[in-house]
Amino acid sequence: MFAAMQFTKGILRLIDQRLLPQEEVWLECRGLESVALAIEDMVIRGAPAIGCAAAYGLALDVQAASLGGGTWDEYRARFHAGISRLARTRPTAVNLFYALDHMRRLGATLASTMSITAAAEEIVKLAEDLAADDLKTCQAIGAHGAKLAEGRKLRILTHCNTGSLATAGYGTALGVIRSLHAAGQVELVYADETRPYLQGSRLTAFELRSEGIPYKVIADSAAAYLMQLRQVDWVIVGADRIAANGDTANKIGTYGLAVQCRHHGIPFYVAAPLATFDTTLATGAEIPVEERSPDEIRYTGGRQMTPVDAPVYNPSFDVTPAALIAGLITEKGVLKPPYTESIDRLLRNSN
Ligand code: MRU
Repeated sequence: MFAAMQFTKGILRLIDQRLLPQEEVWLECRGLESVALAIEDMVIRGAPAIGCAAAYGLALDVQAASLGGGTWDEYRARFHAGISRLARTRPTAVNLFYALDHMRRLGATLASTMSITAAAEEIVKLAEDLAADDLKTCQAIGAHGAKLAEGRKLRILTHCNTGSLATAGYGTALGVIRSLHAAGQVELVYADETRPYLQGSRLTAFELRSEGIPYKVIADSAAAYLMQLRQVDWVIVGADRIAANGDTANKIGTYGLAVQCRHHGIPFYVAAPLATFDTTLATGAEIPVEERSPDEIRYTGGRQMTPVDAPVYNPSFDVTPAALIAGLITEKGVLKPPYTESIDRLLRNSN
């Protein structure tokens, strides 16, 4: 299984996901700003991985500050400035804000007179715990999702990259696929290219290949045709934010797949940890959708694909209405409609 990040004292190593699969280059982040830039530039991406990287960014900063000595009280303002900087990197994946909230709450418990060195130990431990929890969570999601297949061998279509590169390891939707494969239940995975950033053809294909899971890359626009030909049994995707009613933001193109599934009578599943649920938002209409650079559309692999000044609209995510989702696969089990009730019940029992 490929890891997206490695943290050792004073350094966060990130595999540069912009260069995969052609090149495996590890970038070394030694400070919070370089982690923030790595998240903005998609060196690291995928909702849970963004949250983990941000937590490590805060850990790097406090480790560096502790070399100069002093108290938590003297460092506190810089800690909160770091949280604000990281919160501005990418708006849609709520896992980022989940990790930053955990850090903010830890900060509030630290005594003003505590040495920065002691505070650094606590902050590093929390960052490491968040990553370890995400890995365990993904493994549990995989197990719950695999049970849904009830022993059948499936042809599965997925979108974007939701694997070990997008999480602390194992993956969400790709974690379910991994668990199904381990049980001998994957006939074939169709990996959508996932334009314009090609997380599917570059990253999901890379992970499926290295795991020996049978797969084919398809153009996003081939999905509906494959469904019409009865070549797809399941569609499973990840999520960047799930509102209180189950509406789900995920990579642009996800909503279209859900509509196609409904037309063809194919179950459309979403796999995500509880950290991806944002019940402060009643519906998906309130989810902030990131709009990325027009150049992601104007250029592919460095080659210009439109007139140089072509006006572009490049939303990075869309929102799938809960009514199109057959089940939300979490680490605590599979939620079924009506989601407002099932989400509320699960979150109340998990707190
Ligand atoms: O823009 P990205 O690559 O960060 O988008 C990633 C996705 O949309 C994933 O499907 C989502 O984060 C779930 S990852 C486990």
